[in-house]
Amino acid sequence: MRILKQLFDKNKNWAERMKESDKDFFLNLSKQQKPEYLWIGCSDSRVPANQIVDMLPGQIFVHRNIANIVVHTDLNSLSVIQYAVEVLKVKHIIVCGHYGCGGIQAAMENKDHGLIDNWLRNVKDVYRYHQNKLDAIINEKEKLDKLCELNVIEQVSNVCHTTIVQNAWKTGQELSVHGWIYNIEDGILRDLDVCITGLDEISTTYRVV
Ligand code: CO
Repeated sequence: MRILKQLFDKNKNWAERMKESDKDFFLNLSKQQKPEYLWIGCSDSRVPANQIVDMLPGQIFVHRNIANIVVHTDLNSLSVIQYAVEVLKVKHIIVCGHYGCGGIQAAMENKDHGLIDNWLRNVKDVYRYHQNKLDAIINEKEKLDKLCELNVIEQVSNVCHTTIVQNAWKTGQELSVHGWIYNIEDGILRDLDVCITGLDEISTTYRVV
C-alpha cells in the first residue's frame, strides 16, 4: 500500500466502532439489504446522502451525479431506479438537490466547460422552461437557488415519467416520489412539496396506460 494509507486506517477504525455498537452489524447486513428509500442526489462532496438523514449502511439506496439529473436516455440512473423499484421495492424515491450547486451554476453560464456541458444541457433546458420567471430575478444567488429548486422539481417529473415508476404504480405498488433541497450553509433539508404518488398525478403527455 503505497499511498492513501490514512483512508484504510480510518476505515479500520470505523468498522471497529460499528462493531462495538452492534457486534453483528456487518454480519446481518451481509445477508440482505432492504432499504426503503432511493436517494437521487448531487455528487457534491458536501451532500452525502446517508449522513444528511443520519442513516446507517443498509438503509438508503443511493445514486448521485452532477446536479442530480434524471434523463430518460441515461442507462445508469434508469438501471438504479429499476433495481430499486422492482427488486428492492423501495417505498420512496427522493430527488435531492442543494442550494449553491456548482453544476447548476455552470449551466447558467454562457461559457465552455468542456464535456460536462453536454450533461448540463439538461439543466439549461430547465432554465428555458422557466426563462421568464428566472430572468426576472436580479440577484444572481437567488436566481441560482431558484434554478436549483426548479431542477429538482423537473427531475421528480422525469423519475415519474419513466416506464419503471409508471409500471410500479399500475401494478399497485406503493411508491412516492419526493423533491427535496438541502442547504449546505446550515445542513438543513427542505421539502419542496412535490410528492407524487400515482399515475393520475403526472402529465397526460407522458402517461403510458
Ligand atoms: Co451540486
